[in-house]
Amino acid sequence: MSALDFIYRRHSVRKFKEADVDPVHIQEIIKAATYAPSGKNVQNWHFVILKNPNKIQDIVKIVEDKNAEMASWTDDESLKKEITKFKHYHTIFRGAPVLILAFAGPYREMAVEAFKAKNASSEELHNILRVSPAIQNVSAAIENLMLAAAALGYGTCWMTGPVYAFKEIQEYLGFHKEGYFLAAMTPLGVPEESELSSPPRKPIEEVMTIIE
Ligand SMILES: Cc1cc2nc3c(=O)[nH]c(=O)nc-3n(C[C@H](O)[C@H](O)[C@H](O)COP(=O)(O)O)c2cc1C
Repeated sequence: MSALDFIYRRHSVRKFKEADVDPVHIQEIIKAATYAPSGKNVQNWHFVILKNPNKIQDIVKIVEDKNAEMASWTDDESLKKEITKFKHYHTIFRGAPVLILAFAGPYREMAVEAFKAKNASSEELHNILRVSPAIQNVSAAIENLMLAAAALGYGTCWMTGPVYAFKEIQEYLGFHKEGYFLAAMTPLGVPEESELSSPPRKPIEEVMTIIE
C-alpha cells in the first residue's frame, strides 16, 4: 500500500452500473475539486451536475447531431470517417447516472495585456496565450474531482471530445455565467467492472529531464 495509491487507482471509466451516486458524495467530490490550486486563487470554475437520465440522453443526442453536422462540413473522406468514428468515444457518458460539466471562467492575464500593449506579433501573442492559466485552473480542479471520485469508489472519464457541441449544450442547459465556457465534462458513477486498468505510460526517462 503506497501513499500514492489514490493516484494509481484512478482510471478512465466508460461503463457504469445503474447504481445511484450518493448526493453527499457529489458534494464531497465537488468540494475536493475546489481545493485545487488556481492562479491568484481566482477559482474560476463552475460545475453543472446533471442527474436526470433523460437530460443526459439529450446531451448524447446533441453531441451525436453535432458530430454528424461536422462530418457534413468536409469533403475529405478520411476526415469524415475519423469524425464519425469518434462519435462513440464522445458519448461514452450515455450510461452514467451523473454527468458533470466543468466550466472555466475568466482569468485576467497581466502578461497578455502587456504583450498587447507593445503590439506583440501574433506569434508572440500565441505563445503567451497558450499558457492559459484559466484552463490550467479548471484542469487542476477536474483532476482533484476525479481523484476524489476514485477514492470514494466511483469512476470518471475526463472528456473534451463532446465539447465541440459547446454552444448547443450550453443553450440546452440554460446555464449562463458571465465569461464562463464549457471546458470539459465527466460521467460519474459506479464502474461496471471491478478490475480497472489504464493504457501504459511512457517511461519516466522519456518525460523527465534532470538538469544538474
Ligand atoms: C483533456 C482530456 C480529454 C479527454 N477526452 C476524452 C473523450 O472525449 N472521450 C474519452 O472516452 N476519453 C477522453 N479522455 C480520456 C483519455 O483517453 C484517458 O485519460 C487516457 O487514455 C489515459 O487513460 P486513463 O485515464 O485510464 O489513465 C480525455 C482525457 C483528457 C485528459
